Amino acid sequence: MRYGHFDDQNREYVIETPETPLPWINYLGSESYFGLISNTAGGYSFYKDARLRRLTRYRYNNAPLDTGGRYIYLRDNDPNSARSWSPTWMPTRTPLDFYECRHGMGYTSIRSRLAGIESQTRYFVPLGENLEIWELTLTNQRDQPASLSVFSAIEFNLWDAMDDATNFQRNYSIGQVEVVDGVIYHKTEYRERRDHFAYFACSEKLAGFDTQRDDFLGSYRGWDSPKVVESGQSADSITHGWQPIGSHHVKVQLKAGEQKKIIFILGYHENSKDDKFDPPESQTINKRTVLPVISKYLLADQVEKAFEALRVHWLGLLDKYQVVTPDEHTNRMVNIWNAYQTMITFNMSRSASYFESGIGRGMGFRDSTQDLLGFVHLIPERARERILDLAATQLETGGAYHQYQPLTKRGNNDVGSGFNDDPLWLVLAVTAYVKETGDWSILNEQVPYDNKPGSEEALHGHLQRSIQYTLDRLGPHGLPLIGRADWNDCLNLNCFSDTPGQSFQTTTNKEGKVAESVFIAGLFVLAAKEMAGLCEKLEGKGEKQDHNFSLLTSHFYLEKAAKMESTIWQHGWDGDWFRRAYDDFSHVLGSKENDEGKIFIEPQGICVMAGLGVEDGRAQKAMNSVAEHLATPHGIVLQQPAFSKYYLHLGEISSYPPGYKENAGIFCHTNPWIMVSEAKLGNGDKAHDYYSRINPSAREEISDLHRCEPYIYAQMIAGKDAATHGEAKNSWLTGTAAWNYVAISQWILGVRPTYDGLQVAPVVPSAWKNFEVTRSYRGVRYVIQIERKGMGNEVQLEVDGKSINGNIIPLPVENKKEVHVRVTIN
Ligand code: BGC
Ligand code: NOJ
Repeated sequence: MRYGHFDDQNREYVIETPETPLPWINYLGSESYFGLISNTAGGYSFYKDARLRRLTRYRYNNAPLDTGGRYIYLRDNDPNSARSWSPTWMPTRTPLDFYECRHGMGYTSIRSRLAGIESQTRYFVPLGENLEIWELTLTNQRDQPASLSVFSAIEFNLWDAMDDATNFQRNYSIGQVEVVDGVIYHKTEYRERRDHFAYFACSEKLAGFDTQRDDFLGSYRGWDSPKVVESGQSADSITHGWQPIGSHHVKVQLKAGEQKKIIFILGYHENSKDDKFDPPESQTINKRTVLPVISKYLLADQVEKAFEALRVHWLGLLDKYQVVTPDEHTNRMVNIWNAYQTMITFNMSRSASYFESGIGRGMGFRDSTQDLLGFVHLIPERARERILDLAATQLETGGAYHQYQPLTKRGNNDVGSGFNDDPLWLVLAVTAYVKETGDWSILNEQVPYDNKPGSEEALHGHLQRSIQYTLDRLGPHGLPLIGRADWNDCLNLNCFSDTPGQSFQTTTNKEGKVAESVFIAGLFVLAAKEMAGLCEKLEGKGEKQDHNFSLLTSHFYLEKAAKMESTIWQHGWDGDWFRRAYDDFSHVLGSKENDEGKIFIEPQGICVMAGLGVEDGRAQKAMNSVAEHLATPHGIVLQQPAFSKYYLHLGEISSYPPGYKENAGIFCHTNPWIMVSEAKLGNGDKAHDYYSRINPSAREEISDLHRCEPYIYAQMIAGKDAATHGEAKNSWLTGTAAWNYVAISQWILGVRPTYDGLQVAPVVPSAWKNFEVTRSYRGVRYVIQIERKGMGNEVQLEVDGKSINGNIIPLPVENKKEVHVRVTIN
């Protein structure tokens, strides 16, 4: 069953009923000001950091679901009617005659009709601004005049979302606002150490306003039946403590057929410390600095311009990789939604979604480094900045903070470091960046360790230390020590926690000198080979590198990779698949010897991606084992058999009921590793089959089972051991976005950047006869037409009419803006 449909032309998903199985959401904002918005206008906004700088309140895990948002109420002032409703359905849930929500690239538009009054609200954040626009268009479709009241409503957050939700003895006394010329300014704590405030403005003359929640709602009422909306009269309340809100009241008379636009803007503004107040000795906000921006965006033509600029911006971004294949689900995900989701994960990491509260996690080190793999071609300059920010949270040991806070860009001490895979991902991010851009200068950027001034070293040195970090931490079998956990945050082999509430991620009750990870070993081989490739190029360029440390050679890395490979074959290979780990007792995990957890997906993917066994049939064996033991129609589960009870020596993985999350759920992030591996082995049908199983668009028809949004990936789909097999959870913020993008665009469609140019090596389904890729790369547009002539994967390339050797399109001469490539698959 579907709850909507794709509008590919407009790059939108159209939701046809407000009662989706879960709130189906979208994101607003591109750089600093962000918001989450559901299909019924639920959600909240923040500036840069969902924990430390939250603008509006939202209560997670609420009943009814998804209460709190960007609300508008309409009231029919005709004394015979006096009915009121929410044009976005929530929070009044009044049945509507018509409802439609369109989630698009950086905007959401909700249209509805009740009793002949049509309303459409378009929500978006203009590029480069710290504000959001709600553009409401009302149309009177009756043949009578209509007299309406419009009420807006948001609830302000007192900035620190954690404190806001817990510290009531203080919070009930600090709320402050100013209301001047119809603009509501939220200024809690502005009088002391904050130099920022929020504002909520409206384009119309007000009939009233409210800033005190109780006066608007009534003490014992909810957002579904505000007292003020019922009576049709605002209280003009000024909050002193308690719960500051913002509500405008506008009265509108519409002739039959008449239409009217009303604009609301909600924004964030900072003043310089010495210019906070006006007059300077007062406690009144200096508004001179913000008024120009407010008046600009209250004008309908400016709003239209800003919306058009956002549309063009996204067209340009998506245009960087476009494909036409025989499969509409592939086309739609590659051309629109998967690329879009990689941008969202780049912006949010794992901080704020409808499953991540925005309080618990900042920017993850391994998360953001992997997100970059799918994002880098969209806006390379921002990828560059992110790489340098991440590297600055590395420690001198080469290890890294597991997370950092986006507002401060400082490593998070609560979580700390010791996740031994973390630093290796940085190598993959940097090499992907250089292959995309050819910007070798990034390797010479001076970056501190732990953000400490004076500790700066060239980025290349950071990468060396990333590799050395693993080499310095090898266990009894010569495999890398796992530390707190590797990619699988829940495989906590040194934790041994028997105390409820202890964090699996930060509790370490064993020394950590024994438990080893085959996964990190595979990742190490992959990263070391990448370093070798990078160094080989640098050596070839013969450029003098001016560093205060000595550069290791490509030879060094190849040797280390080879040594690790042989260790994996010796201790990490189980005969039919790669093993997973050795625990604190040096017992194997992920082996035929185990009763539960015999085979895990992660080492199969990472080792084959690193090239192990590709030549000698063992990689194919591992893939056959994946197909036999782990694959389901809904995707590939993380491991089998699921852990049926809690194992002290394994940690959080066995804390989940079988079939959920890391305990044998379909942890989607890992599925593309198998797709890439199958592609590496030349199995195009298999690779694309796995791709389709978790492709959200291909699952649209089973939305009642899948339940999450059909336009973006979720972190997990319940596995075959779960009662709800096929049900997705934790949508949006997952490494699945970037990795699926890499798998489909670079390995299945096969167009991937290298240091020397674009490589074209498709491994596609045998039934595909033709397809076309357009890819912008280093300022050149490549139009690539691919035709299948034989049943293999061998390609022959003709570049601008001339056939070339190999499958890498040489970098074109300067000033050439477009290159045409004909590819035959033989
Ligand atoms: C989840 C993991 C996640 C970790 C982060 C665990 O509860 O299952 O997927 O990585 O928390 O702290
Ligand atoms: C989600 C975390 O964000 C990610 O870092 C981790 O690799 C996976 N969970 C698997 O545990």
